[in-house]
Amino acid sequence: MAAGNLKIQVLESADAVAAAASKVIVEAIKAKPRFVLGLATGSTPEKTYAKMAEANKAKQVSFAKVTTFNLDEYWGLDGDHDQSYRYFMNDRLFNHIDIRPWNTNVLNGMATSPLIECAAYEQKIFACGGVDLWLLGIGNNGHVAFNEPGSAVDSRTRLVSLTQSTINANSDGRFFSDPKDVPRCALSAGIGTIREARKIILLATGAGKADAVKAAVEGPFSPDCPASLLQDHLDCTFYLDKAAAAKLS
Ligand code: GLP
Repeated sequence: MAAGNLKIQVLESADAVAAAASKVIVEAIKAKPRFVLGLATGSTPEKTYAKMAEANKAKQVSFAKVTTFNLDEYWGLDGDHDQSYRYFMNDRLFNHIDIRPWNTNVLNGMATSPLIECAAYEQKIFACGGVDLWLLGIGNNGHVAFNEPGSAVDSRTRLVSLTQSTINANSDGRFFSDPKDVPRCALSAGIGTIREARKIILLATGAGKADAVKAAVEGPFSPDCPASLLQDHLDCTFYLDKAAAAKLS
């Protein structure tokens, strides 16, 4: 199925989505060991990360020459805070594969100047030759990374404010236990930053994502649904389980 340029893969289950995403990433790294891989946090990619770690353990792929860039980080959290995205990535993926820690890039939520931190991040992506593949999730309100509704198609890495719906979604017990503990701001790669990746794969699983997926795929190309701003990307595939795809016509 295709919407605009988007390619849509509907799979049986969240496990099948993870297997498919992991396979795409592993094959791409095998073809280009000095791969530049963009990564995401959240519950959705966790199974994919487990499968990537399995493939590494089984010696099907090495991450030794791979460089990674993460989408975002909570503003005000240090990398050793257990709710920081740096901690999440170390815990769910980096500690389980042969990647060199110094080749993993996550924005510093404690940087002295967000402006300098974000500009340096963009420059480093550029210096590495750009992102080969960026793995994305999607928020219930259609956000990607922490690009909330209203984010511009050409937005770059910057300090952003989180919406109440995102704060609530990330404090439902999976991550923070109380909305009061969730930082109100984050550093986030922009939609423009993400769109420059040569390939994008967006994962969505579960019924809670069905409305956001419908808006992203079938709604207008509009900042009201940031994920819809991927519709004209030349190589973007949404991997969906049946529940997340349920509202597509
Ligand atoms: C957070 C992250 C996003 C992620 C979204 C959905 O807001 N910043 O990058 O896509 O959550 O997360 P989940 O996969 O847990 O539903």
